[in-house]
Amino acid sequence: MKELEQRIMEDGRVRPGEILLVDGFINQGIDVTLMSNMAKVWRDYFNDKTITKVMTIEASGIAVAVLVAQELNVPALFAKKYETVNLTDDRHCARVYSYTRGREYTIAVSKRLLSPDDHVLLVDDFLANGCAIQGLVKLVRSAGATIEGVGIVIEKAFQKGGKILRDQGLDVCSLARIAAFEDDRVILGEADA
Ligand code: G4P
Repeated sequence: MKELEQRIMEDGRVRPGEILLVDGFINQGIDVTLMSNMAKVWRDYFNDKTITKVMTIEASGIAVAVLVAQELNVPALFAKKYETVNLTDDRHCARVYSYTRGREYTIAVSKRLLSPDDHVLLVDDFLANGCAIQGLVKLVRSAGATIEGVGIVIEKAFQKGGKILRDQGLDVCSLARIAAFEDDRVILGEADA
């Protein structure tokens, strides 16, 4: 998505540990117009799928999910994060290890809110090693629901998350793909839309 790529090149900042800061327009400050435009691109890309829910994990994914859900006229749903391992059995749960954050946590969603009838579009801001989205995939499948696709704002293509998801046959649409960081410069690859 050209508009997003341009914004990353103008306002994204590279931090140690191969982290891209996009807090001016995605992670903290949110450019709602840009995000609405992203939602329209995913709406068109996943046009042939029947989607009943748009799902993400708190926190940064929520704004993305809300705008996509509005575009598709379906509810948005986010998994909450918990430090504890054991949660009450009225929730679908999955355990996630984040390499980026160096910690493990549980994600969960109320069983009332996700049923085997649901056809889910997963969305998130970043895809790195993909542990967060893989946790979400496990959680949705444990609920018996169907995953129709995965929408990612920024995929770090030099990390393994994208390959793992695509190797499972999931339809992943990344709007920007980072091929590499070179001397604090972002090198973009080819995006999916
Ligand atoms: P991982 O398996 O390597 O940990 O990667 P994953 O794709 O699961 O991402 C883990 C977390 O790290 C996510 O946030 C993701 O947004 C964030 N992240 C990964 N790479 C970058 C980056 O280059 N820049 C920024 N800004 N964030 C990055 P999270 O745990 O879901 O937390 P939250 O920020 O949504 O609260």
